[in-house]
Amino acid sequence: MTDHYINGKKIDDLEIIISSEQINTRVREMAELISKDYSGKRPLLIGVLKGAVIFLSDLIRYLTITVEIDFIAVSSYGNSTASSGVVRILKDLEQSIQGKDVLIVEDIVDTGLTLNYLVDNLGSRQPYSLKVVTLLDKPDRRKVVLEPDYCGFTIPDRFVIGYGLDYGEDFRQLADLRVLDE
Ligand code: IMP
Ligand code: MG
Repeated sequence: MTDHYINGKKIDDLEIIISSEQINTRVREMAELISKDYSGKRPLLIGVLKGAVIFLSDLIRYLTITVEIDFIAVSSYGNSTASSGVVRILKDLEQSIQGKDVLIVEDIVDTGLTLNYLVDNLGSRQPYSLKVVTLLDKPDRRKVVLEPDYCGFTIPDRFVIGYGLDYGEDFRQLADLRVLDE
């Protein structure tokens, strides 16, 4: 194919773990399920920046219900706070979520600490309901009990990039999900 390099890596050499076709099929299925579960409602989908941007964009185009979207950005914790799961909000929502049906949309649940914090934080703002949608789940590394309500794919403990997921801000633009083993 093409000689496409990012950060010194030849993209074609990186193993595809989930292809764009597989992602597309699964995202469509997830959207159908969510449309059914939220039939007659008008949920607010909250994308967690920046990783979930591409997933959220694809997901909402397959939804057959009316939705609102908003975004939240959180800091990744340093090593010192990893065990406590303390996360800082870098960009908050534009609106109150009180009384709303809220869906948090994430790219990947790894240790679960980020989502655990978000569920606690957003849950305290009195939404009518609060559920979690994630494209990927890496349960092997979980540090807290957290089961996403909607999950695209469960993957082994490997570092994946593409379809919004990054390594040092690189690789988000790739259409397929690939493995970056260091
Ligand atoms: P958690 O708090 O450990 O669940 O971390 C979730 C965040 O870590 C995700 O939103 C990603 O930004 C990042 N992350 C975890 N695993 C991966 C991966 O395999 N590739 C890229 N980012 C990842
Ligand atoms: Mg993320």
